[in-house]
Amino acid sequence: MTRSLIRLAVVAGLFASFGAVTAHPVEEPLERRQTIDTYDYIVVGGGTSGMALAGRLSENQGVTVAVLEAGTDYRLNPANLVDTPGMDTFGVGADPTDSITNGLYDWFFVTEGEPGYDNRKVHYARGKCIGGSSARNFMLYHRPPRNAQQTWVDLTGDSQWSFDRVLPYYQKSLTAFGPRHEFRKDNPPAQYNPAAFPGTGPVSVGFPNYAQPFSGPLLNSLNEVGVPTSTDMSSGNILGAQYSTITIEASNGKRATSRSFYQQALDDKRTNLNVIFEALAKKVVFDTTASRPKAVAVEYTLPLGIKKTIKARKEIIISAGAFQSPQLLMVSGIGPADQLKAQNIPVLVQNENVGQHMQDHVFFGPTYSVNVDTPTKEANDPVFLAASLAAFQINQGIFTNNVADLIGFEKWNSTFLDSIQASQVKSNPSDWPEIEFLSGPGFIGDFSNLVTNNIVQGLTLQQFASLLVAIVAPLSEGSVTLKSADTSDLPAIRPNWLSSPVDQKVAIAAFKRARQVFAANAMKSTRTKATIEDFPGFDVATDDQILASIRKNLMTVWHAASTCRMAKSPQTGVLDSNFRVFGVDALRVVDASSFPRLLPGHPQAVCYMIAERAADLIAAANK
Ligand SMILES: Cc1cc2nc3c(=O)[nH]c(=O)nc-3n(C[C@H](O)[C@H](O)[C@H](O)COP(=O)(O)OP(=O)(O)OC[C@H]3O[C@@H](n4cnc5c(N)ncnc54)[C@H](O)[C@@H]3O)c2cc1C
Ligand SMILES: *[C@@H]1O[C@H](CO)[C@@H](O)[C@H](O)[C@H]1NC(C)=O
Repeated sequence: MTRSLIRLAVVAGLFASFGAVTAHPVEEPLERRQTIDTYDYIVVGGGTSGMALAGRLSENQGVTVAVLEAGTDYRLNPANLVDTPGMDTFGVGADPTDSITNGLYDWFFVTEGEPGYDNRKVHYARGKCIGGSSARNFMLYHRPPRNAQQTWVDLTGDSQWSFDRVLPYYQKSLTAFGPRHEFRKDNPPAQYNPAAFPGTGPVSVGFPNYAQPFSGPLLNSLNEVGVPTSTDMSSGNILGAQYSTITIEASNGKRATSRSFYQQALDDKRTNLNVIFEALAKKVVFDTTASRPKAVAVEYTLPLGIKKTIKARKEIIISAGAFQSPQLLMVSGIGPADQLKAQNIPVLVQNENVGQHMQDHVFFGPTYSVNVDTPTKEANDPVFLAASLAAFQINQGIFTNNVADLIGFEKWNSTFLDSIQASQVKSNPSDWPEIEFLSGPGFIGDFSNLVTNNIVQGLTLQQFASLLVAIVAPLSEGSVTLKSADTSDLPAIRPNWLSSPVDQKVAIAAFKRARQVFAANAMKSTRTKATIEDFPGFDVATDDQILASIRKNLMTVWHAASTCRMAKSPQTGVLDSNFRVFGVDALRVVDASSFPRLLPGHPQAVCYMIAERAADLIAAANK
């Protein structure tokens, strides 16, 4: 009698949590699955770094790995927008309501609003699903420059972070493929150095079967104003401009994310990796009887209010991203004492750096009307839209393309930096650019909603193209702080964009540079109105007017980093150079929050690299 009651309770419990634990690779009897609550490793967050790390750790069949991922598996939803590269602009706008178009896979972060960007409340997209923000990003893949990478050695005192030492880890995650010019019809053609990609890892990187027609004239114009063509941004130098390699599948053109590590585990029928979906981590639990607190378990919730605790035999690794990793540390008692006390959280380890030193890149730029096809056409030509959607099914057409397919980096000389009162950035390494150019085919305007902005402007039956400029050597720093002691409440995000006067000067000069590019001879036959700038317009002319316009319209490039940074000591950071949280045992943080410093350009390469390196370090430490 009692036994069957227990069985009934177990079965009822299983039904209750069924949706949450579907699609994991452990093929065990359901009853046993419920009782396994101890793993060797627990990874919190199945995002870019976390899923890559968990995939690698579980290659060793001798260990068990659980991943707690708050989101779902987007591949189980045939209507997801994630898989279509050309839809990466959906739901990433600055307007908080824009997150709705991608609501299933977004956390709905909104900044607090600081003076540097006119106190606006800006929606800050973050992926909530397997793959994390790699399922939301613009797929641009390149590696940081050699001497910029070296700053990590200087900041951590650990020579293992040098470019040469980490290059194999950059390479390991990827399998690459070159441009197929017969489909791309790119002119000038994309250049590609296969030697930069000797790896055979699960994440696919290469070139879409469609080049944005605006990118050719843009590249020629950049060349004309002094930005040469680069042939390879993944071997230690990023200066110059090129069609970027992007993280997409060679076979079908779909977006490639860190989910590829999970797919590999499924294909291998690995029984030692369990990805638990819709599992929101609430707190790390410590054994405080030892000489130092030791991380031993994670409390989490499943839908319907189900509460769980999962134990780790060896280590717990937090990979919840630049906003939620510091949040999880703080609610677990590690962080600035004032903040913890304000939320009645007992202080386990005081560390004033948790959630601080947030770095990010911002971008902005002018828009002109052009006579080449751009994504604006998707919005104003239903025949083109239908044909393009059909073409994507056979890995062709505009939807295979990530939209911003051409990027360039420029380093300014000392005389110029002095002349714009930006001398402070002169201390950066010689290969660290101040600005990045990104092609923006379409009407971007105030970034509020890239889709509706194009529909509205597209009603005029014109085509628009923008040139975005990003500040990639920013001095401004922001923060992540608690709003409550519960991870169900998002933390407060204050990026402090453009708080530094130097960043403001660089921004003004960068904006002017974008105008110079549009004024190049090579752009003449592409522009349809010789004397008009459609956004913000030539009446925005003086430095003050330009800065005011930038503050009003700038957007994050979504590169938040360094909020739990690796450093030499707890006085300057949160983690040692091997990702270990200062002051406790068996706890690491591996994601963009752990970067000692945000490097120039796009960080997903760095997220994969650190995950690969962390996997090796963790395996070696737990032999
Ligand atoms: C719109 C957009 C465009 C971008 N464009 C590019 C680009 O073109 N190229 C590039 O290199 N980079 C780009 N980036 C940046 C890049 O994608 C991120 O820097 C990177 O993905 C961050 O990886 P991560 O591992 O730190 O965090 P994430 O990938 O965000 O992973 C964090 C994971 O943790 C989960 N999580 C959070 N809290 C909890 C919790 N309490 N419990 C359980 N799970 C939790 C989340 O759901 C998520 O899956 C872009 C980002 C965005 C959003
Ligand atoms: C420095 O850059 C400015 C602006 O691009 C340029 O006009 C000048 O010639 C450069 N000076 C040197 C010494 O290279």
